[in-house]
Amino acid sequence: MKFDFAGKMAIVTGGGSGIGAAIARQLAASGAKVVVADRDVPGAEQVVATIVKAGGKAVTYEVDVADAVEVEAMVAFTTKTYGGLHLAVNNAGIGGPSAATADYPIDGWHQVINVNLNSAFYGLKYEIPAILASGGGSIVNMASILGTLGFAQAPAYVAAKHAMVGLTKTAAIEYAKHGIRINSVGPGFIDTPLLSKHLDQAALAYVTGLHPVGRLGTAEEVAALTCFLLSDEASFITGSYHLVDGGYSAQ
Ligand code: NAI
Repeated sequence: MKFDFAGKMAIVTGGGSGIGAAIARQLAASGAKVVVADRDVPGAEQVVATIVKAGGKAVTYEVDVADAVEVEAMVAFTTKTYGGLHLAVNNAGIGGPSAATADYPIDGWHQVINVNLNSAFYGLKYEIPAILASGGGSIVNMASILGTLGFAQAPAYVAAKHAMVGLTKTAAIEYAKHGIRINSVGPGFIDTPLLSKHLDQAALAYVTGLHPVGRLGTAEEVAALTCFLLSDEASFITGSYHLVDGGYSAQ
């Protein structure tokens, strides 16, 4: 799916794999200059190479999104490299440990909250001033269907994604009159390394069966919605939470 992002500068965190990689590719294919930010530098470099080979513009940036100082530096790098910032996708995330709430490890809780929630706050904190200075733009925070539903054995992930949806609404209200639209996206289970690395065949079959369409989603399907929300075609959409879940949450 193509939009008009000519002259726009973008950051995609977690751009080195899965959903973030698909978003980075779709943004670049529509004319944006993209900073592919990830702690996995070889992964990000591979995505950048694909974009450049296809005639797009992108650079790699190494970041740990759980570190506020590194996120601030990522935004500064983007404005220095490309001269501004209009679009940001706070997408990097992890699954975390799998355990019931009473058994959930404290360090795992903090890790998931740091990577999946605090990162979105750090992103907004530094992206918003840069986007304001560039004349406005749009931000998408990558939540999950688990931003509105519970899921056994994933208390930290579910809590982080619910909080991310609320954070998105609040920031959207604050900056709606200042030319920044901010939305969250709620994917169902998507066929990316996040799933394939952590779930065995039986678990994959179980989560696949949770979707009425009878399959997992693709990263490209999430990227299409995300790019629409980032684009001027979505000019009246802000503060909302958009599902792309194959019917999962309709049940
Ligand atoms: P993935 O594992 O394929 O990609 C995640 C990327 O984030 C990786 O490149 C990883 O290196 C990077 N990353 C992780 N921690 C980081 C950190 N501290 N600093 C910088 N980069 C970091 O995962 P996927 O599936 O593409 O997930 C992307 C986002 O989508 C996540 O926020 C995830 O929670 C969300 N999501 C994924 C779903 C799925 O079923 N795959 C469903 C719903 C939401």
